[in-house]
Amino acid sequence: MDEIVVERRGPVAALGFNRPAKKNALTAAMYAALAEALAAAEADAAVRVVLFHGHEDVFTAGNDLSDFLDRPPSGGDAPVFRFLRSVSGAVKPLVASVNGPAVGLGTTLLFHCDVVVAGDNARFQLPFTSLGLVPEFASSYLLPLIAGYQRAAQWLLLGEPFGAEEAREAGFVTRVVPAAQCLDAAWRIAERLAALPPKSVQGTKALMKRAHRAAIDGQLAAESERFRAMLGEPAAREALAAFLERRKPDFTRGGM
Ligand code: COA
Repeated sequence: MDEIVVERRGPVAALGFNRPAKKNALTAAMYAALAEALAAAEADAAVRVVLFHGHEDVFTAGNDLSDFLDRPPSGGDAPVFRFLRSVSGAVKPLVASVNGPAVGLGTTLLFHCDVVVAGDNARFQLPFTSLGLVPEFASSYLLPLIAGYQRAAQWLLLGEPFGAEEAREAGFVTRVVPAAQCLDAAWRIAERLAALPPKSVQGTKALMKRAHRAAIDGQLAAESERFRAMLGEPAAREALAAFLERRKPDFTRGGM
C-alpha cells in the first residue's frame, strides 16, 4: 500500500496520504492502511506522537466518491468506520499539516487533532449537503462546539469553502504558515510534543477530551448509521454520479 506512506523519525510516526493523481481521495484500502498504522503507533511505546499530512498542494479530497457510489461502506466495521474510531479514541497526540484542499473528511479529521498547522494555501470544505449526505466523524457535534453554531451551519449546511485564516479564527487551526513551510513546522511541533513526558501529555489530552467522550462516541454512531442510509438515497446517487460525470447535479426530481 504505497498510497499511505508511514515514516518514522524517532518518537514521531508520520502518516502521509499519497494518491496525488486523485487529490489524495481516500479509498477503503487506504482507510484500512491508516487504521492499521494508527493502531500500530498507539501500541508501540516508542511512538509518542502521530503526524498526518498530504502534499504541498493537497491534503485530501476526502472520501473517494466512486467508492461511495460503487462500494459504499456496509457495516460498522467497514475500514472507514474503523479509522474514524481509531482517530477519535487515540490516546497519543495527533498533529496535522494541511496544505491545499482539505475536503470532507480532510477537514473533519482535523477536529480530532491536537495541533493543526495549515499552509496559507489550505482550503477547507464540508460539502455534505450538496452530496445528498450528512456530516461524519462527529463533525455535527464538534464543529458547533469549536466554531459556534451559526458558523458551523454556514459550513455544514451551505458547504461554503473557507481558508486557513478563517479556520484559525474559528479555532481548529492552531497556526497558519507559508505553504512551503507547513510540513516542517508540523514536524517541529510533533518533535516538541514527543520530547515531553508521555504520561503527562497523554493524561492532559485525556482530561481535555473527557467531558465530551460519550457525546462524541454517540454522535459518531448516529452519524454513521444515517450516513450509510443516505448513501443509498436518490439525492446522493445523483450527486455522486454528477461529480464523476463532471456535470451539475439535478436535485429537482421526486424522492430527493
Ligand atoms: N473522489 C474521487 N476522485 C476524486 C475526488 C474524490 N473525492 N476528488 C478529486 N478526484 C479526482 C477527480 O475526479 C480527478 O480525476 P481525473 O483526473 O481522473 O478526472 C482528479 O482527482 C483531479 O481532480 P480535479 O477536480 O480535476 O482537481 P481540482 O484541482 O480542480 O479540484 C478538488 C480539487 C479537491 C477541489 C475537487 O476535486 C473536489 O471538489 N473533489 C471532490 C471533493 C469531495 O466532494 N469529497 C467528498 C467529501 S465527503
